[in-house]
Amino acid sequence: MKKILCIGAGYVGGPTMAVIADRCPQYTVTVVDINEKRIAAWNSDDLPIYEPGLDEVVKRCRGKNLFYSTDIAKGIKEADIIFVSVNTPTKTFGTGAGRAADLQYLEKTARSIIEHADSDKIVVEKSTLPVRTAQAMSRILHSNTRGLKFQIISNPEFLAEGTAINDLMNPDRVLIGGLETEDGQKAIEEVAAIYANWVPRERIITTNLWSSELTKLVSNALLAQRVSSVNSISALCEKTEANINEVTAAAGKDTRIGAKFLKASIGFGGSCFKKDILNLVYLCGYYGLPEVAEYWEQVIKMNEFQSRRFVANMLAAMFNTVADKKIAILGFAFKADTGDTRESPAISVCRQLLEERARLCIHDPKALENARLDLEDAEGDITYCEDPYEAVKGAHAIAVMTEWNSFKELDFKRIYDSMEKPAFLFDGRNLLDADAMYEIGFNVYPIGKKAKTHF
Ligand code: UDX
Ligand code: ADP
Repeated sequence: MKKILCIGAGYVGGPTMAVIADRCPQYTVTVVDINEKRIAAWNSDDLPIYEPGLDEVVKRCRGKNLFYSTDIAKGIKEADIIFVSVNTPTKTFGTGAGRAADLQYLEKTARSIIEHADSDKIVVEKSTLPVRTAQAMSRILHSNTRGLKFQIISNPEFLAEGTAINDLMNPDRVLIGGLETEDGQKAIEEVAAIYANWVPRERIITTNLWSSELTKLVSNALLAQRVSSVNSISALCEKTEANINEVTAAAGKDTRIGAKFLKASIGFGGSCFKKDILNLVYLCGYYGLPEVAEYWEQVIKMNEFQSRRFVANMLAAMFNTVADKKIAILGFAFKADTGDTRESPAISVCRQLLEERARLCIHDPKALENARLDLEDAEGDITYCEDPYEAVKGAHAIAVMTEWNSFKELDFKRIYDSMEKPAFLFDGRNLLDADAMYEIGFNVYPIGKKAKTHF
C-alpha cells in the first residue's frame, strides 16, 4: 500500500486528495496543514470549503484511506510521495512586491521535509509556481546532510472552483513534468500511475519540468485574456448598441475561437488569474522581456477598468450620487457555486461604493463569512443579510456581482415593490432577463448591452 501525503489542506489540496483517495483505494492519503482549525473542519461535518459533490467524496473515504492531520512530521516520515499544495500568494513586500510569487511557505515546507524525512521521496509541486522553482526546491531538499535523494515533479492542478470534483474526476488533461533523467522519468511514471487509475492514458501528458511549470501560468493567462478581451468589447458594445451576447455567440461558433469562456462580466476574480499573470509579468521582466511583460499586464489593467467602469455607470445612472443610498449587493463570491471571495470583483465594487458613501447590504448564499473578512477594514455602512429579500428592502439599486442560479428564482416583482423608486438594477453578470426586469419596472443596466430604462 503506497502512502501519499499532501502538505496544504486548501482549495487545491483538499478536493484533489479526496478524489485521489476515492479513485485509488490501494493508496493511503493523508492531508496535513499547519492550520489546526482547517484540519478540524476537514474532520467534521462542516468542511472548510464549499464545493458541489465534495462532501460525498470525503464522507466515502474519510477514516478509510483518507486522513486529515496536523502531524506533519509523521506524515512526512511515512510518505512515499509528497504533494505540496501550500499557498503561494503575490509578494506584498520587498523585491518584486505586487508581482512576484511569495515562496516562503513553499520553502518552509521543503525545510520541514528534510527535517523529518528518513528515506528518499518523490516531491510533487501542485501549487502554481514560477518557472524554475523546481530547481530551487531541489537545491533546498538536497542540502540535507543524510544523503537522501528527492525527485521533484511538477503536476499543476487545473481544477476550477465550483466544478472541482467533476474537473478532477474527468480532467481534460493531467500534466506531469519531470527531469529528463532516468530517475526523473521513473518518478513521472510513479505519479502518472496514480492518475491512470481513472484518467485515460492519452490524457496524461508528460513534459520536462520547466514546460509543466510554465504551462500552468500560460493556461491561466490565456483564460484570463479571453475574459478581458470580451470585457473590453463589452464597453464598446454599450456605446454602439451592439449586444455582447450576440457578438460572442456568433464569434464563438468559429471552432478556432470556441464558445467557452466568452462571458462578459464585472471582471474575473479567483485566487489564480491575477496572481499567475502577475507572476508571468514578473518573470518576463526578470528575463529582460519588458514588451512581453507589458502585453500580459494589460489583461489585468482591463480587468480593473471593468469594475471601475461598472461603478462609474452606476453613478452616472443614479444622478451622479449614491451617497446615503442603500445598494443591495447580490453575490460576493468571485463566481457561482463557491464561497471563495479571493480577488472577487465584488470587493473592489463595494469599496468604491463605500467611498461614494453608499450604504451597502450584501447577500450571498455561501460567501457572507468571507465577505465580512474582506471588508473588515472598510469604513462605512455595511450590513450582511442571509435573506435576499431583506437585503433589497428599501434599496435604491441592486448590483448583481455573482451568477448564482438561486438569484434567477427570486420573486423580482416582490423585490421591486419593496425598493425605493426609481429602482435600478445593475447586472454585472448578465444573469437576469433584462426584458422581464424592465417590464416589472426596473431600470436595467446589463454588461455590454444597451440599458433599458423608463426615463
Ligand atoms: C481558474 C482556471 O479555470 C483553472 O483551470 C485553474 O486551475 C485555476 O484558475 P477558477 O479561478 O476556479 O479557475 O475559476 P474560473 O472558472 O476560471 O473563473 C475565473 C474568473 O473568471 C471568475 O471570476 C469568473 O466569473 C470569470 N469568468 C470566467 C468570466 O468573467 N467570464 C467567463 O466567460 C469565464
Ligand atoms: P490553494 O488555493 O492554493 O489551495 P489555500 O490558501 O487554500 O491555497 O491553501 C493552502 C494551505 O497551505 C493553507 O491551509 C495553509 O495553512 C497551508 N500551509 C501553508 N504553509 C504550510 C506549511 N509550511 N505546512 C503545512 N501547511 C501549510
